[in-house]
Amino acid sequence: MKTVRHFLRLTDLSTAELKNLIHRAIELKELQRNGREHAFFPGATMAMIFEKASTRTRVSFEAGMAQLGGHALFLSPNDTQLGRGEPIEDTARVISRMVDIVMIRTSGHDRIETFAQHSQVPVINALSDESHPCQLLADMMTWYEHRGDMAGKTAAWIGDGNNMCHSFVRAAGLLGFHLNIACPEGYEPNAELLKAYAHCTTLTRSPTEAARNAHLLATDVWASMGQEAESNARMAAFSGFQLNSDLLSMANSEAIYLHCLPAHRGEEISAELMDSPISVIWDEAENRLHAQKALIEFLLNQ
Ligand code: CP
Ligand code: NVA
Repeated sequence: MKTVRHFLRLTDLSTAELKNLIHRAIELKELQRNGREHAFFPGATMAMIFEKASTRTRVSFEAGMAQLGGHALFLSPNDTQLGRGEPIEDTARVISRMVDIVMIRTSGHDRIETFAQHSQVPVINALSDESHPCQLLADMMTWYEHRGDMAGKTAAWIGDGNNMCHSFVRAAGLLGFHLNIACPEGYEPNAELLKAYAHCTTLTRSPTEAARNAHLLATDVWASMGQEAESNARMAAFSGFQLNSDLLSMANSEAIYLHCLPAHRGEEISAELMDSPISVIWDEAENRLHAQKALIEFLLNQ
């Protein structure tokens, strides 16, 4: 039986595949911008399972499938049998007999892994508590578009050692840049992951130390989806970890900064940086569309 390619972690792509995908995403962006036909997958169908909220991920996958000539179905636990306890294995067996590709956003990464094990078609991780690889496709595309090759450069992750941070760590390993991670005690990324990527990461408690001479600064919310009850404790723990113009002034003079969004102005990022004309954050958000179209094309062409 043919093995099915999934995209559950960034490292499900090789370095060469990731670089090709970024180049292809830039080509697809050009086609889109120039109004050129690129409906390469007429009739293809994607099931989009959302067990958590989303704006960018839903719109980019749904619009992306339409632009590629296909169709996407939005499925939430509220109105499918998943919400009434149908096992994820059974859901995978059934849905994957009917559609060509599936994306899932949920809390437990194991749910995505289980779905993939029982799926006949490619499965995409559209965010779990463990990682957010689709966002890193867009982030790396944005960095490349604005500043070229990232090999040998330094990026700084300022804030929570969360799902986004985990995907950044893997991006550093694949693309050959160094990642400084500044987070408060108790909010570190997964220890095993850090150990595996010790050659390309540095953990510090100091945002300024992390940002010094960096070519890229990135952050994310202090309380992720599902951590709302910890918001107050997290606000206190992360004070001093804001991405703002003081921090940017420590970085390389050509540094760009990223935020996956949604953002809380005045918390993890200053309003000034969010609304600055030098921000590439809106390009980053748009690039979700192009990068994921390249990903869909890659997976459907296997
Ligand atoms: N960045 C991101 O994944 O945004 P959404 O939660 O809006 O999909
Ligand atoms: N870390 C955030 C990312 C949102 C796109 C979360 O999981 O809520």
